[in-house]
Amino acid sequence: MEDLYTIKWHNGKVRILDQRQLPNDLVLLEISDHRGIVNAINNMSIRGAPAIGIAAAFGVVLSVWSAGDTDRPTFLEKANTAIKELKETRPTAKNLFWALEKMRLVLTRNLNRPLGEIKKALLFEAQRILDDDIKRCENIGKYGATLLPDRAFVLTHCNAGALATGGYGTALGVIRAAVAAGKKIKVYANETRPLWQGARLTSFELLEDDIDVTLIVDSAAGAVMREGKINIVLVGADRIASNGDTANKIGTYSLAVLAKKHQIPFYVAAPLSTCDFDLPNGSSIPIEERDADEIRRIDSMLIAPEDVKVYNPAFDVTPNEFIDAIITERGIARPPFKTTLSELKNKT
Ligand code: MRU
Repeated sequence: MEDLYTIKWHNGKVRILDQRQLPNDLVLLEISDHRGIVNAINNMSIRGAPAIGIAAAFGVVLSVWSAGDTDRPTFLEKANTAIKELKETRPTAKNLFWALEKMRLVLTRNLNRPLGEIKKALLFEAQRILDDDIKRCENIGKYGATLLPDRAFVLTHCNAGALATGGYGTALGVIRAAVAAGKKIKVYANETRPLWQGARLTSFELLEDDIDVTLIVDSAAGAVMREGKINIVLVGADRIASNGDTANKIGTYSLAVLAKKHQIPFYVAAPLSTCDFDLPNGSSIPIEERDADEIRRIDSMLIAPEDVKVYNPAFDVTPNEFIDAIITERGIARPPFKTTLSELKNKT
């Protein structure tokens, strides 16, 4: 993944690696207005909680970047409309709202400065969100690698890698750091129905980095655990409530239950920007429901009767009792997460 990047600001435009086309084609999208970012997030050209937040931040920059001689109220309206529209893209990832709040604060703090300076301040903030995300992932990797034994057999779900973040990844960052420390790591990647993030993205990313990865169908996880082939389950997160209840890609909860049954440690890796300290538990985490055709079809080919009813929640919530540790950029939280997560949040 060294020469590839998830998202970059380039000459007044945002470049995004179109994840819908992976692993077959490496296509860079060049986006010049915030609606383009709204679409890219909605259609999953860019996905993964931290990457969605970064894209949204750059979307706010784009909304005003080409505003020429506009008056101040029009300029501010453009930025505020973009923030509103970007907020309406994907409801579960906390990082989206976290990043947009940071952009809103920059806007408010710079309200009376010349418009050109407000633009620069917004760009500075978006770039900082991106750069800091990479550093956070590297720190998550550093802490998380201590949890992986030499000869770890790690099961992961969805894609919590460089593609889902500014770079390096959360769960896959832990794996990268462990491999860099000389540990022998073998990864099992769930293919992750219905959009195949495990098959298309995680296996692509790990192969690019020469990390040993084996793809399995989601429904094989229990059997593979029972065969003794897994000794760690490691996933990312879209939103973590203050008690540690964790929303992540649909199927994560089943893995956590299976891990408990087989006495396999279950770890979540995520930056603190994924934590929602306003939520006491996971019951009020908004769960995105996506289009029925994601399940009824593969690309345009129907694989089910066209009129069959479909329920397609994109995420589920794993209760904290199934989670052995949450790996953050400031250290590792262990139960009781209400205390340990808030200690990490306040740690300087
Ligand atoms: O629907 P997606 O592909 O955006 O879902 C992504 C996940 O569930 C990831 O595990 C999560 O966002 C963590 S990414 C570091």
